[in-house]
Amino acid sequence: MSGTCKTFGFVLTCYILIPTVACQLFTPVVFGMGAAGAASIVWRVYKYYYECCSSKWIAFNSTGLNVDLKQRLFGQHVASRVVLNAMKGFMNNNNNKKPLVLSLHGLTGTGKNFVSQLIAENIYKKGMDSSFIHQFVATVHFPHKSKINTYKSQLQRWIKGNVTNCPQSMFIFDEMDKMHPGLIDTIKPYVDYYKEIDGVSFNQAIFIFLSNAGGEMITEVVLDFRRSGKDRADITLKDLEKALSLSIFNNKESGFWHTSLIDKNLVDFFIPFLPLEYQHVVQCGMAEMATKGLKPNHTLADLVAKDMIYFPKSEKIFSSKGCKSISSKLDFYRDHA
Ligand SMILES: Nc1ncnc2c1ncn2[C@@H]1O[C@H](COP(=O)(O)OP(=O)(O)OP(=O)(O)O)[C@@H](O)[C@H]1O
Ligand SMILES: *[C@@H]1O[C@H](CO)[C@@H](O)[C@H](O)[C@H]1NC(C)=O
Ligand SMILES: *[C@@H]1O[C@H](CO)[C@@H](O)[C@H](O)[C@H]1NC(C)=O
Ligand SMILES: *[C@@H]1O[C@H](CO)[C@@H](O)[C@H](O)[C@H]1NC(C)=O
Ligand SMILES: [Mg+2]
Repeated sequence: MSGTCKTFGFVLTCYILIPTVACQLFTPVVFGMGAAGAASIVWRVYKYYYECCSSKWIAFNSTGLNVDLKQRLFGQHVASRVVLNAMKGFMNNNNNKKPLVLSLHGLTGTGKNFVSQLIAENIYKKGMDSSFIHQFVATVHFPHKSKINTYKSQLQRWIKGNVTNCPQSMFIFDEMDKMHPGLIDTIKPYVDYYKEIDGVSFNQAIFIFLSNAGGEMITEVVLDFRRSGKDRADITLKDLEKALSLSIFNNKESGFWHTSLIDKNLVDFFIPFLPLEYQHVVQCGMAEMATKGLKPNHTLADLVAKDMIYFPKSEKIFSSKGCKSISSKLDFYRDHA
């Protein structure tokens, strides 16, 4: 993006380097120059490419999120409900006492990143491409234990710097269960009930933690439900809360749970993702075809779903990789039909 901007000349380039100032001052400066014609063209191009921290670029669409969760997310009725209510409650209140902190839990491929993406798309015009979304993956960004102190100060600087630039920033921490406890503690002050830190208020920011922690316990609950003849759709948050808290609070192995994030109730919502079943994988296959612009083909979706591995061994109910790698499987079967 900045590469494109640079070609429009020096004025633009220098404003790209100081984005916040640019968004606030560029209009008056440009129009103050009097070169109205040229300037307005530059301004239009600039606005098209450049994202500002303003309501033009950041506006929550609760209808949109509701529709997306209902139509594009499969098999996650519990998560869907909690996410929508959490987002509505936070975004429609302009007097929040702390940032919103969501913690998404579930087995691999069940839609945790996907839901973060749906949230992002219904807040930021640019969706996940927004420069106000900051994603950290534990094993990619903070891989070395020995560098923990460097990471700590870096992360503090980034969170503070980004929220200073734009109060409505979103931070996604992936693989939270693989993150060093010390590093998680670093986040704590920013998600706590402080009015402000060094003159910066964090109360409009959103923190999303993703992890597989609790996934097995959630699966046990769903299995019990099935084995006693009950319907998956009747599973409630209450049924899962106990399993989730047991695996979160009692798991002494995983870094997340040692931290004061949990002791101090700084996480606003723990959101369980259920393991996906055959029918959901088929739905994912159909959705993926639509995304690729292919004609819907149920035979092909079935073929792809049958190719996944299901567990437990005896019953073969849940897809062990959820809806992951559906896209590449689809390509494979299409090419080898
Ligand atoms: N419940 C779902 N409904 C619709 N699509 C889904 C669902 N779960 C997964 N998918 C599809 O599968 C892809 C991979 O899922 P995603 O990355 O969200 O999994 P994850 O829960 O983050 O897994 P991991 O724990 O391995 O990171 C998504 O991009 C999406 O296309
Ligand atoms: C919000 O989302 C709905 C449903 O996707 C869409 O029809 C509507 O145009 C969106 N509103 C805005 C302001 O983007
Ligand atoms: C914002 O976060 C990103 C990491 O996502 C970092 O590279 C950047 O330097 C941060 N910006 C500020 C102003 O701190
Ligand atoms: C659907 O996919 C199957 C398997 O790839 C293929 O044999 C069949 O011709 C496809 N049907 C249509 C209508 O494209
Ligand atoms: Mg993920």
